Amino acid sequence: MESLLPLLIALGVLLQLCCCSPPPSPVVCTHGNVNCTVTNAYGSFTDRSICHAANIIYPRTEQELVAAVAAAACAKRKLKVATKHSHSIPKLSCPGGRHGTIISTARLNQTVHIDAAKRLMTVESGMLLRDLITAAAAAGLALPNSPYWYGLSIGGLLATGAHGSSLWGKGGAVHEYVVGLRIVTPAPAIKGFAVVRELGADHPDLDAAKVSLGVLGVISQVTLALEPLFKRSLTFVKRGDSDLADQVVPWGLLHEFADLEWHPQDGTVMYRQDDRVDVSTPGNGLNDLLIFRASPTGRTIGARVAEESMQMKNVTDVARCAAVQLQVSAKEQQALGFTNDGVSFTGYPVVGYQHRMQAAGTCIDGPEDGLLTSCIWDPRIRGSFNYNSGFSVAISKAPAFITDVQRIRDLNPDMFCTGVDGRVGLVLRYVKASSAYLGKPEDSIDLDILYYRSRNYGTPRVYGDLVDEIEQMALNKYGGLPHWGKNRDFAFDGAIAKYPKADEFLLVKDRYDPDGLFSSEWSDQVLAIRGSPTVVKKGCAIEGLCVCSDDSHCAPEQGYFCRPGKVYREARVCSFIKENGK
Ligand SMILES: Cc1cc2nc3c(=O)[nH]c(=O)nc-3n(C[C@H](O)[C@H](O)[C@H](O)COP(=O)(O)OP(=O)(O)OC[C@H]3O[C@@H](n4cnc5c(N)ncnc54)[C@H](O)[C@@H]3O)c2cc1C
Ligand SMILES: *[C@@H]1O[C@H](CO)[C@@H](O)[C@H](O)[C@H]1NC(C)=O
Ligand SMILES: *[C@@H]1O[C@H](CO)[C@@H](O)[C@H](O)[C@H]1NC(C)=O
Ligand SMILES: *[C@@H]1O[C@H](CO)[C@@H](O)[C@H](O)[C@H]1NC(C)=O
Repeated sequence: MESLLPLLIALGVLLQLCCCSPPPSPVVCTHGNVNCTVTNAYGSFTDRSICHAANIIYPRTEQELVAAVAAAACAKRKLKVATKHSHSIPKLSCPGGRHGTIISTARLNQTVHIDAAKRLMTVESGMLLRDLITAAAAAGLALPNSPYWYGLSIGGLLATGAHGSSLWGKGGAVHEYVVGLRIVTPAPAIKGFAVVRELGADHPDLDAAKVSLGVLGVISQVTLALEPLFKRSLTFVKRGDSDLADQVVPWGLLHEFADLEWHPQDGTVMYRQDDRVDVSTPGNGLNDLLIFRASPTGRTIGARVAEESMQMKNVTDVARCAAVQLQVSAKEQQALGFTNDGVSFTGYPVVGYQHRMQAAGTCIDGPEDGLLTSCIWDPRIRGSFNYNSGFSVAISKAPAFITDVQRIRDLNPDMFCTGVDGRVGLVLRYVKASSAYLGKPEDSIDLDILYYRSRNYGTPRVYGDLVDEIEQMALNKYGGLPHWGKNRDFAFDGAIAKYPKADEFLLVKDRYDPDGLFSSEWSDQVLAIRGSPTVVKKGCAIEGLCVCSDDSHCAPEQGYFCRPGKVYREARVCSFIKENGK
């Protein structure tokens, strides 16, 4: 036994270098494909519930997909698509009720057709962004913009309006590049209970189907308009944030792939200066973002333990900020994980092909190593467990919004070390106005925030009132819109009313799925068809299930009371009050 130990350790080290455990399936069934539960990639929906479904089906072809929809439609059974990893944080991938059918697109992952001359690519909807980008590049083509994480499926990322960052050309959202799709919807008996609808570029329903929250039917195939593969050149420029309100709009106009990583605690911004360059420009840069790399399980758990201790009241703000600043510096020295050649970072600019620069996610690349390493949020280990809010504010209002956030910051900059994940900061990205009914109605800036989530219901966060105030301010004072695939539940209250074309979307939904088979309790609440996305009960505001209107919605026994925001007085947030009630 003793003699085996060094060998096992050596093997472990080797495995850490070469592999990682791919994420578990979000759907688990007790009997083959029957009696299933559904969760997301984090193993936890916003309300901490697990959904149930009668069964799951894995179609491999469009024909099998049609048969699956027809069988459910014939039995008037609820239906919902789940994807290979299901990353959406709200309960989007749960069928209604407890006895619905899940259609997995995990095996619908092939390229259907590439027309290099016309620069068109048709793929099956379950294809991961990673595979799509690779297949396009092999044909000399590139998707000009995409989310930064390549573990998403094309069907899932379209359904939630997912995006990267750009105000140039068609913009940062992937749905802007969709020029056709095939969607399977329920149909009357005389049509065999299911039909394939083919929507070309000029079909009016395409504006409903390209951002659909999954409630119209199952998208079978997607056709994207691509561009010749190009290179880009990236430099992160660090500056003070005193003129951020003036810079935020011009920066997006100046650089095609601009974004901003704002660290209000020390008043700095990492401006991403990122533009196309001629393909002859030397460089073979690679985006291998640190946060999307496989991490040794021990390190991931250790980081969570450290975070939990930072959440305890006996760690001072100064100590918290010092720890955060160390990690920010380390990350910046490594260019966030970009390398000049796929191996090491030697200096800016990082020049590389679009398909190597646009997205990352090596922690899903496997092969299996028995959980020695994994994505840091893998639900099988007690690793990172966070909330992720993403909401957009119209470009025209962005400067005033930033100024308001700076006012909150000026009260106590240290709040931004723990109230948000200070290592990640506030990430600002650009998204253009869309013709999609559930896309952004105006050119917008999207703010993405990661922050601590307790594993226990109702346990407050340190400076939990910080994000709550910023979010309520963005959504209510600045008319902001929540990302469909992120956020806590309260953010969706009233969201649909801010979409001028929501009624047109609902008309298409009524035509495609009149019985609402693809609708769930959650989608009905979000679309304001039935019920409200908020839940009012003890501790609901701590959980983000409601905006507090009573102290009991916070955690008064732990010193958290429902109070107005500090700058945006109309906000109602759970604030820690040292002397009871004051
Ligand atoms: C680590 C990480 C990084 C992220 N980075 C970004 C980012 O950079 N930018 C961004 O905008 N978002 C980002 N997101 C959020 C992400 O875009 C959304 O959560 C996205 O919807 C998830 O896609 P998915 O393939 O996992 O879909 P799922 O979560 O499985 O599904 C989303 C919805 O789409 C429906 N659906 C899926 N496929 C189909 C289909 N074929 N037909 C009909 N309906 C379908 C599902 O039923 C569900 O309602 C990130 C999320 C994570 C976890
Ligand atoms: C169905 O799954 C649940 C767990 O999700 C389990 O408790 C139950 O026993 C299962 N039912 C059957 C009939 O197997
Ligand atoms: C499709 O999925 C299968 C099974 O997960 C996998 O082996 C295959 O490599 C994938 N194909 C593509 C083109 O991504
Ligand atoms: C904070 O308090 C907890 C519980 O009393 C204790 O376990 C921990 O060691 C303390 N941490 C510090 C840094 O004092």
